[in-house]
Amino acid sequence: MILNASGCLDALTAPEAALSLDAFVTKTVTPLPRGGNVPVRIAETQHGMLNSIGLANPGLDAFLAETLPRLVMLGVPLWVSVGGFSAREYATSCARLDACEEVHVLELNLSCPNVDEAPESAAEIVAACRAATSKPLYAKLSPSAWDVAVVARAVEDAGADGLSLVNTLRGLALDERTLRPRLATATGGYSGPPLKPVALAAVWACRRATRLPIVGMGGVWTGRDALELHAAGATAIGVGTALFADPAAAARIRGELLSELKTHGLSSVSDAIGIAHDELPRVGGVTARRSTKSLDLVQKRTA
Ligand SMILES: Cc1cc2nc3c(=O)[nH]c(=O)nc-3n(C[C@H](O)[C@H](O)[C@H](O)COP(=O)(O)O)c2cc1C
Repeated sequence: MILNASGCLDALTAPEAALSLDAFVTKTVTPLPRGGNVPVRIAETQHGMLNSIGLANPGLDAFLAETLPRLVMLGVPLWVSVGGFSAREYATSCARLDACEEVHVLELNLSCPNVDEAPESAAEIVAACRAATSKPLYAKLSPSAWDVAVVARAVEDAGADGLSLVNTLRGLALDERTLRPRLATATGGYSGPPLKPVALAAVWACRRATRLPIVGMGGVWTGRDALELHAAGATAIGVGTALFADPAAAARIRGELLSELKTHGLSSVSDAIGIAHDELPRVGGVTARRSTKSLDLVQKRTA
């Protein structure tokens, strides 16, 4: 399953790209409209990209009245990314979106590096949203947490149905000549290829810590990147920054992933999921293939 990463594709201006996805994830919607941060808001760096968009969006009222009906017309399953500045704000938005049949999944953006952190913890926000909706809830987590697996376990206990890993990392780029920050906000969210090892580590850790399905994202550019995230434990893939360089990236990555599976003698994506957690077969011995289901969790609960 291939999705776009929130904020990296405008389905209404690039409907063909959206149609190549298994589901379209909206840009994060907040209760009130936001103009976002002042420009400059995007800076390309040597290896990746910095953004400080600051959750620019029309707000939930306009989203429901104008954007959502147009997205529904595309016929692609819809995930709505929900943002806010308190657990109550998140929960109120979830309650309103709960009434929208056309919305399949709510992804809680608990991790935007360009706005101040919500005062409540990720688990408190998830618990409030769980009480407000019966729709599947995915918690999108920051790779900056000191131990993302601990946060993942907490949001699982609070009622999350899945994880989206990872959001951007905070970064800074300086102007070559002036040595001053290139973004108006100085720091911004760092995305693109350098994020892949960070995403792999987060997916790896959360696969071992929880039973939740995981959308793996961060630096996915090729089918090989997608295969590696699946191997670390991702059950679906999100494509972000690559879509700015190549709007057809999702379709290309899907094709490349199929070739990669073949090369590795795997008959389907499900055979690849979590394979990085399996022990390698011993030469001349029997393959000791452990169950990859929540390895650490099972060990801890039975200890
Ligand atoms: C320009 C831009 C805007 C983004 N906007 C959002 C957003 O609104 N909500 C969100 O959860 N993540 C947002 N993200 C983060 C992406 O969804 C994704 O988690 C991150 O970029 C890592 O994936 P990538 O390396 O493939 O881009 C944004 C990223 C970029 C580059």
